[in-house]
Amino acid sequence: MHKNRFTRIGFILAAAGSAVGLGNIWKFPYIAGENGGGVFVLVYLATVFFIGMSIFIAEVLIGSNSNKDAVTAFETLAPKEKKYWKYGGFSFLTGLLILTFYSVVIGWIFHYIVLSISSLPANFKESEEVFSNFVKNDILNQFIYYTLTFIIIAYTISKGVKKGIEKLNNILMPSLIGILIFLLIYSIQLDGFYKAVEFMFYPNFAKFNTNSIIVAVGHAFFTLSIGMATILTYSASLDKNVNIVKASTYIVIMDTLIALVAGLIIFSITFTAAQEPSKGAGLVFITLPAIFYEMGTIGIFLALLFFIALAFAAITSAVSILEPTVMYLVERKNISRKKATYSIAFFAYLVGIFVLLSNTGAYSQTLTFGSKNLFDWFDFISSAILMPIGGILIAIFVGYILDKEVSKKAIVPYTGENFYKIWLFTIKYVAPISIIAIMLKEIGII
Ligand code: PHE
Ligand code: NA
Repeated sequence: MHKNRFTRIGFILAAAGSAVGLGNIWKFPYIAGENGGGVFVLVYLATVFFIGMSIFIAEVLIGSNSNKDAVTAFETLAPKEKKYWKYGGFSFLTGLLILTFYSVVIGWIFHYIVLSISSLPANFKESEEVFSNFVKNDILNQFIYYTLTFIIIAYTISKGVKKGIEKLNNILMPSLIGILIFLLIYSIQLDGFYKAVEFMFYPNFAKFNTNSIIVAVGHAFFTLSIGMATILTYSASLDKNVNIVKASTYIVIMDTLIALVAGLIIFSITFTAAQEPSKGAGLVFITLPAIFYEMGTIGIFLALLFFIALAFAAITSAVSILEPTVMYLVERKNISRKKATYSIAFFAYLVGIFVLLSNTGAYSQTLTFGSKNLFDWFDFISSAILMPIGGILIAIFVGYILDKEVSKKAIVPYTGENFYKIWLFTIKYVAPISIIAIMLKEIGII
């Protein structure tokens, strides 16, 4: 285990790689669009930096202090009579659920990388058809891309923390950042840039409603990868004497900046083509490709870069989702890393096939239960229920169960008493109360 640790920068890139994903480039722009922009972005920023970052720090604290898989981490740090806290570690199972639909979407991205160079849809109507045709009818190609996704993920994890995860992130993350900077510079000189800035940063209170708050808080969890032992597990491969507040701040800032930059890029392009940003989940897969087509040759180039960036962001996240389960099996069950990786990946892969099929015309009826198909259920259950519960568990554990000396020692020397007090207050009261309120609201109880 000890040879297999992240370097400090390796950890920051890998954790940022986990955080920066579909949530930033695909989801954030379209939910910001649906919720009217400015005010939503404000609420999002507030929740990410207040609640999200506090829990993020708490997860890093548990991981880096125990240097153990999630289950053992809780077990080691819990006081003697409260060892049942180890079950909190099983929040990593949420990840397996996410991994299924997340990988299906990565498959779509691969398809769009190919479309960028072969045949972008010529207008919006065609673009809509291309997308829905692919998702609903093209089972074979979806299946091939989906399989490829799992091979990449499993191969990376099987290589371990240093040779697999760190290496992958060392390549993909700088490339991703480079591409985004390029696309941002390109966007700045588009006519729609100013409107994009206005849309994202000018708060239009008329569009404000409580539902936007729910969406923003739910997304704060998803975007920071918290509440399912992912960040905890990565931190377990980090040395104890690292300034965890500083490292967490870098990661949260990187995640936020990339979401904002992705939004600026996408909205600049959208507004320049005189399109509406409120097209929902189709913004990236339907609206953008048609605009890229209209741009001609440069559009093909931009489309290619954009979908490659999206793929890089998503793959580093998917990899991070698998690691907690694998690390648990390796450390607790003495299974070799290769065996653990391939068996768990194969299991998730099989379940994911049903998730993929639940979107298709042929099987959607069979795989729809009540109001949602399997794809939407998995998304809903993980983001709206399981991740928030995982977040509350972390908050309660660190706020009430964990010896205060442990958290003080990891934070106060770097930040001073005042920061620690604010952080602890957030962890003990603000985070759990607001998360519970939001969950109740989401389920429809309040
Ligand atoms: N944070 C990732 C994103 O924004 C998603 C993710 C969730 C990754 C949970 C790991 C764990 O896309
Ligand atoms: Na994110």
